[in-house]
Amino acid sequence: MDFRELIIKRRSIREFDGKAVSPALVGEIIADCIQAPNARNAQPWSFIVVANSGMIKKLSDESKKNILWDMGDNPSSPYTMYKPILENVDFNVFYNAPCVVYIAGPRDVRSLAVDCALAAAYFMLSAADRGLGTCWVELGSVIRDAGLRNELGLSKDYAIASTIALGYPARIPGTPPRSEPRILKIIE
Ligand SMILES: Cc1cc2nc3c(=O)[nH]c(=O)nc-3n(C[C@H](O)[C@H](O)[C@H](O)COP(=O)(O)O)c2cc1C
Repeated sequence: MDFRELIIKRRSIREFDGKAVSPALVGEIIADCIQAPNARNAQPWSFIVVANSGMIKKLSDESKKNILWDMGDNPSSPYTMYKPILENVDFNVFYNAPCVVYIAGPRDVRSLAVDCALAAAYFMLSAADRGLGTCWVELGSVIRDAGLRNELGLSKDYAIASTIALGYPARIPGTPPRSEPRILKIIE
């Protein structure tokens, strides 16, 4: 696929068909995404691939519970608009994707969020290039339960930086509108 076509075809996918994603394919996408630029080439990222639907459901429930807890009755929480879906026991934040990939790393690395976001962007483009669909799912990133973190291999000093649902798209939505870029100045 031509690069410009790829960046248009890469959309957030929220409907997946039932087909599983092979671990080998996920490995190829990860191999692509670690080519992302990152501060000092320190490559602070680690990857957790979850392809078990029972575990994905547990992670969805855990994250929903924690976000609702944090939100409490605070009307200025940035998550307030998501309250109804978070309270819906049938709503899976990962849209029933067959695979979820967490990108995580040492929480004391100052550039962790940026480095992992760049890796995530590469991940999503590589997946789209291979006919797969992704969605960055922040609503699935708040995992605190010690048992679950242990199952994920996340030690206390590791933070989840990016959370990506991955699968074969049931359909690719159109391009959501973008505002005109605000170019403050061009100085020639
Ligand atoms: C940091 C970040 C967090 C996001 N969290 C969610 C989320 O929790 N659930 C969701 O459905 N989409 C989430 N998205 C996807 C955005 O909604 C999506 O990128 C945006 O609407 C633009 O659509 P596009 O990706 O198709 O261009 C997130 C995207 C980013 C970059």
